[in-house]
Amino acid sequence: MTFSVVGASAVRTALAGAEQDVVDRVREAYLLHDAGGTVNPDSYFLRFAEKPDSRIIALPAFLGGESETAGIKWISSFPGNKDKGLPRASAVLVLNDYTTGYPKALLESATISAARTAASAALAAGALQRTPPRSWGVIGAGVIAREICRYLAATMPVPPVVHCHDLDPGAAERFADELPGGLPADLTTACDADLVVFATTALNPYLPADHRFRPGQLVLHVSLRDLPPETLLHAVNIVDDVDHCLKQNTSPHLAEQLCGDRSFVTGTIAGVLRGDVTVPDDRPVIFSPFGMGILDLAVGRYVLDRTVEAGTAIEISDFFAPDGV
Ligand SMILES: NC(=O)c1ccc[n+]([C@@H]2O[C@H](COP(=O)([O-])OP(=O)(O)OC[C@H]3O[C@@H](n4cnc5c(N)ncnc54)[C@H](O)[C@@H]3O)[C@@H](O)[C@H]2O)c1
Repeated sequence: MTFSVVGASAVRTALAGAEQDVVDRVREAYLLHDAGGTVNPDSYFLRFAEKPDSRIIALPAFLGGESETAGIKWISSFPGNKDKGLPRASAVLVLNDYTTGYPKALLESATISAARTAASAALAAGALQRTPPRSWGVIGAGVIAREICRYLAATMPVPPVVHCHDLDPGAAERFADELPGGLPADLTTACDADLVVFATTALNPYLPADHRFRPGQLVLHVSLRDLPPETLLHAVNIVDDVDHCLKQNTSPHLAEQLCGDRSFVTGTIAGVLRGDVTVPDDRPVIFSPFGMGILDLAVGRYVLDRTVEAGTAIEISDFFAPDGV
């Protein structure tokens, strides 16, 4: 009953240069979910009356397939951390052995969570784009946007121009400086790119209700609450899981409330990957991924295997009492 602890530096080393492997793990998890081989209950949001902008989310899940694994991600979002020079998000992932139920590993998981989110965005971009984008527009120049750009760059050609917008102009400038072709931009310019990424911390839509993307544009709406529902109703909408995504005041949830049903959802990314969902080209395409615990398990399992193999997981042989109490 060895229990492994895997810290950020080991996680980072395990994920370095492994972008395509991670995208493949995410693809497998989506397809397994679609085939009924997972359990992915609702995420549980712990909120605080005195800190309304902060939350800690629990994402329990089970991923079947060859190496069945259960587990839970416990991820905090404390936006005030930024004033203290700390990242907004921090997380751990517990992986459980499916034979005994015993927890088998604890992994630093802000890194894993960012990687699985970026891999899901890159996978969707590969599956939903008809022609290579001539420009990217990034709105929200934080940790997740940075990781998404890294995964996009690892899986497709980088266009000559990347427009970067952030409420904090300094953040947009720093972000633009890191990218070949990066340019700080206003919101309108960033929203006009062929491939638009939203990775802000906005809690409510801020684009005007009459904002329309054009056919041919792909929008990776990773932060989920930036777009007014009216904009979604004039687009092709692809989600990761319909039930999960149409909750918690996401823009797709608001769109459902506005139009009274879910007919505006064209399909899931797994449906697109399987070829069961045809993506019409007469409207822009918006991908809204709620972000499922199964993805954390898929990438966490990959990281655990690599770190155990590399000897960078800290193994504690007497973590559990032999008699169970
Ligand atoms: N869907 C998923 O699977 C998934 C997974 C992980 C994170 N997320 C979401 O991604 C988002 C970004 O996370 P992060 O860790 O990069 O956060 P972060 O705090 O590192 O960066 C967010 C950036 O967005 C900027 N911003 C906030 N509101 C803005 C607005 N209205 N316009 C322009 N810029 C704005 C902030 O100034 C900041 O620079 C969060 O909302 C998080 O919940 C989604």
